[in-house]
Amino acid sequence: LSDEAQQVLQAYDWLTKLYHHLLRYAKDGKEGYQYFKDRGISDDTADLFKLGYAPATANFTASFLEKKGFPPQPLAKAGLLSVRDDGSAADRFGGRIVFPIRNHLGKTVGFAGRTITGDGPKYLNSSESELFRKNKILYNFDLAKKQIRSTGEVVLFEGYMDVISAYQAGIKNVVATMGTSLTESQARLLNRYADTVIICYDGDDAGIEASYKAANILRGTGCQVRVANLTGGLDPDNFIREYGGETFIEKIIKASDTYISFYMRFLKKEL
Ligand code: GTP
Ligand code: MN
Ligand code: MN
Ligand code: MN
Ligand code: MN
Repeated sequence: LSDEAQQVLQAYDWLTKLYHHLLRYAKDGKEGYQYFKDRGISDDTADLFKLGYAPATANFTASFLEKKGFPPQPLAKAGLLSVRDDGSAADRFGGRIVFPIRNHLGKTVGFAGRTITGDGPKYLNSSESELFRKNKILYNFDLAKKQIRSTGEVVLFEGYMDVISAYQAGIKNVVATMGTSLTESQARLLNRYADTVIICYDGDDAGIEASYKAANILRGTGCQVRVANLTGGLDPDNFIREYGGETFIEKIIKASDTYISFYMRFLKKEL
């Protein structure tokens, strides 16, 4: 790793702890804490995933990092800070809940910040860099890999909240592509650990289309594929909150379609 990447990694480490601490214990993090609480996330789950909140206070993160002695340039390049017209650094995730994105070693290599007010895009991500390659990383792979190995199965979701909800419900062989389409390198990674990949994308048109693409990529790398059938526009997180983990396993995972049957229904436009 370059010196710059090393510094960015250190900054992520600090900020992961800081944002999480604020969420759990500080007045500054109350809004974030309440948001997760309202979505059914327990304290233990927040601790495990190091969920955090970046305060909306102007320059909170920028001045924290400055005090720690981090030069702003690499952090701006990593997308942790943004740069104003006058060249000064400003917070990028301020006022958002923060999901640390971990590499296979469990180190934070990027953030996703979700709006809790509806302002701006729903999610913001760190910038692509040698540390953070979204098309190589699967969210939660580090925590899931033991269970993936022992069961030979992995459930593939779209999003962070799907993974976190499932994990909280005791379903631990779960990872997510973070919204983007599954890449071949992610498929190869899954194939090294699992025999069967159960694609469990959102039950909307985009999710069905993406399932079709992911299924073909996975089969190309030698994985067995099953495709879950979520209807009513629910996503896995919604489903688990509504019906619980047991029902999710029985009605969605175990009842998932074989690739062939998914493919037939996809062609006939029955999905
Ligand atoms: P919640 O609304 O919080 O439940 O998120 P979700 O995961 O259900 O969101 P959605 O189904 O819309 O998107 C799935 C995943 O795509 C998210 O978890 C993100 O990883 C990614 N994603 C969604 N919207 C955006 C966006 O506006 N920007 C970026 N960079 N990623 C997004
Ligand atoms: Mn969306
Ligand atoms: Mn979606
Ligand atoms: Mn979703
Ligand atoms: Mn969702």
